Amino acid sequence: MTDTKSNTMWGGRFAAGPDAIMEAINASIGFDQRMAKQDIEGSRAHAAMLAAQGILTDNDAEAIREGLLTVLSEIETGKFEFSTALEDIHMNVESRLKDIVGEPAGRLHTARSRNDQVATDFKLWVRDQIDATLEAITALQTAFLAQAEAGADHVMPGFTHLQTAQPVTWGHHMLAYVEMLGRDASRFTDARARMNESPLGAAALAGTSFNIDRHATAQALGFDRPAANSLDAVSDRDFALDFLNAASICAMHLSRFAEELVIWSSAQFRFVTLSDRFSTGSSIMPQKKNPDAAELIRAKIARIFGANAALMMVMKGLPLTYSKDMQEDKEQTFDAADNLMLALAAMTGMVTDMTANQANLEAAAASGFSTATDLADWLVRTLDMPFRDAHHVTGSIVKLAEDKGCDLPDLTLDDMTAIHPAITGDVFDVLGVQNSVASRTSYGGTAPTEVRKQIARWKEKLA
Ligand code: ARG
Repeated sequence: MTDTKSNTMWGGRFAAGPDAIMEAINASIGFDQRMAKQDIEGSRAHAAMLAAQGILTDNDAEAIREGLLTVLSEIETGKFEFSTALEDIHMNVESRLKDIVGEPAGRLHTARSRNDQVATDFKLWVRDQIDATLEAITALQTAFLAQAEAGADHVMPGFTHLQTAQPVTWGHHMLAYVEMLGRDASRFTDARARMNESPLGAAALAGTSFNIDRHATAQALGFDRPAANSLDAVSDRDFALDFLNAASICAMHLSRFAEELVIWSSAQFRFVTLSDRFSTGSSIMPQKKNPDAAELIRAKIARIFGANAALMMVMKGLPLTYSKDMQEDKEQTFDAADNLMLALAAMTGMVTDMTANQANLEAAAASGFSTATDLADWLVRTLDMPFRDAHHVTGSIVKLAEDKGCDLPDLTLDDMTAIHPAITGDVFDVLGVQNSVASRTSYGGTAPTEVRKQIARWKEKLA
């Protein structure tokens, strides 16, 4: 697509067209065509405003409006021919508009620059992406919530250091992710609110001498207000970084549950069975059912965080205002956004389809002396022992059980009284996992009664 003529958009002072390599490094149309819809939206708002301000005639504005709709439908139906010589989406659209409507197309760029145009388009794109991401997060939360409800009182081991710590409920564990995703959603919502100022009308960098109405274009494009400093408006990409930050943290959360699924679905754990729809087989080992989707979600954080780091690096050395470096903001952001959406969808599928293996979970919950804390708490409550002493006595009882090769409920009362004479038979009540979880009724605790309260709260919130 190399063109030997100078560029029709900016080539007035150029005697020759760009070298092929120059064109290759310069062009962004290969990726920024994803912002076609936003570009046309921005141009329509700009043209309407120019007409309302008497800068464009109504006839020209109408020709531009109609022409832009034609361009949009050509793009949407795949009929549009993108040209690398025309560099980017902005010039591709304008050039095609000129083919369609002729002279008025050349008036569209009055009081505007590609600098405010690209900042506007990209913001609109990120904003749309935030809305899509929020929907995907809600879908995943809903899937976790359904799991929580189905297993509100199912017992499983709770871990610290991946060592059995205390019994918890399946519903409680699922709700932990609903909480994390809730904060993820709020980060995206915050980012959306912060970025919602319109760059359009900042022009190249300094504003314009035309009597434009930036409030009108801001309103037409759903922004809260125009950005108040034209230099800032064309030269920051912190809105994309806010998005990538939120995306990174969200992907980190997804990665943690993915890791749990990898562990839980292993032959050694068998806590969950993943559906065939979200597993793959091995080409050599016929018995294998691999949690590939979970593994790939676990890896997605790498590229999403990579995009975040890359854009930080692109921006950190740039003097105000626009530099072409900033064209490198888009590809990585698109990639991160796509992969986050994919990860959210895959995780929603896995969470919806997975089966908790209740018997295995309960057996695992009861092993590893998981109710030792309940025993210590009983000593405090019943014998009025200071917790530190109770901790010590319990440690000795655990040691005894370990030596005998049994779990705490399997010890005899004689075993217990040999270690502390005041212990009585009703200590055994607190050693069962069901009683253990049922007793943890502090706010936000693992007791099924508490879990059900949180489920009800989230159901209302997500409805
Ligand atoms: N394709 C460019 C970008 O993505 C558009 C802005 C170009 N502006 C300029 N002054 N060359 O950043």
